[in-house]
Amino acid sequence: MFGKPKKQVVGCDVGSSAIKIVELKPLKSGEFQLLHAAIADLSPEAIVDGAIMDSSLVVEALSRLIAENNIKNANFGGSLSGHSVIIKKIQLPSMTDAELAESIQWEAEQYIPFDINDVNLDYVVLESDAGDSMDVLLVAVKKDRIADYTSVIVQAGKDPVLVDVDVFALQNAFEANYDVDPETIALVNIGASVMNINVLYHGTSIFWRDVAFGGNQYTEAIQRELSLSRDDAERLKLGERVGENTLQQVLGVLNSVSEDLTAELQKTIDFFVATSSVDHIDRVVLAGGSAQILNLDEVLRERFQVAVEVMNPFRNIRYSESDFDPEWINRHAPAMAVAVGLAVRRVGE
Ligand SMILES: Nc1ncnc2c1ncn2[C@@H]1O[C@H](COP(=O)(O)OP(=O)(O)OP(=O)(O)O)[C@@H](O)[C@H]1O
Ligand SMILES: [Mg+2]
Repeated sequence: MFGKPKKQVVGCDVGSSAIKIVELKPLKSGEFQLLHAAIADLSPEAIVDGAIMDSSLVVEALSRLIAENNIKNANFGGSLSGHSVIIKKIQLPSMTDAELAESIQWEAEQYIPFDINDVNLDYVVLESDAGDSMDVLLVAVKKDRIADYTSVIVQAGKDPVLVDVDVFALQNAFEANYDVDPETIALVNIGASVMNINVLYHGTSIFWRDVAFGGNQYTEAIQRELSLSRDDAERLKLGERVGENTLQQVLGVLNSVSEDLTAELQKTIDFFVATSSVDHIDRVVLAGGSAQILNLDEVLRERFQVAVEVMNPFRNIRYSESDFDPEWINRHAPAMAVAVGLAVRRVGE
């Protein structure tokens, strides 16, 4: 109520194939207006396995995005996923907030496969009214990985005010655009190297997993099939004609990789079902650039026998068609989900 209004964060999703930036402005109506949405491709050697291998490439691409889009807001929010992120729900004896704050470091040690001094730890109490125990959500992120990602933001002249995790940003993007649903929904963000999975049950997130599978597998399969360079295979995958080759010719290759992706997702969902009280998924909502792989939704639909749709993270976000080309927005929307999920946040929240 008092003090300065909290500042909106610029969502800055540094993925292994592209940097996505989104800036939103909250309206009095409670809706958001789009101020900026932009993408810059990264060369495949810039980020490998989630690690920034060539930070100058990333800084250069990010600086260019900021300059070209004239982004004035200095408050940037980034996001991480993959091996350097551990998310766990743990059960602890009931205790006060102060007791929890004191003991969480020690409790967490048993659940984190890294040296506890090497991670940044965050936690939130999920349910504390269940008698003598309580559920706590534990999020641990490797400090060196955070430092690498915040450092490129600093080098691009901005202030990294928050670091989120892809699965939670994905959920924020979904919640900003879709009504709470009593169903069990698997949000699946399929990028270039990782797929992030977040299962919502009655609107509450109950399962998280990152799986090393994504668009690169499609590109590599096309490369092998047609003996193309990586760049040519990538262009073909995105629908461009490459010499005599067209996307139609590699549909079989795409489908076979989609079968592999589906099998990976099946394993994860089987594990989720085996370890939770929920026995099935009602709906799959895809995001990430690779959500647009031709026929992937159909392959998933067939295997899981559930509704499969592609998330539109701009569904509830207002923009004027003179500022943003709707065709551009629609084409890039799935890949922007994490950036939108970061951009709905405010500094200090
Ligand atoms: N229209 C499309 N059809 C098929 N694939 C696409 C399309 N658009 C983008 N992709 C693929 O999506 C991937 C990029 O998606 P996204 O931007 O979500 O990944 P990322 O965040 O860079 O990667 P990661 O999170 O895995 O590090 C690339 O593999 C790209 O080839
Ligand atoms: Mg990504």
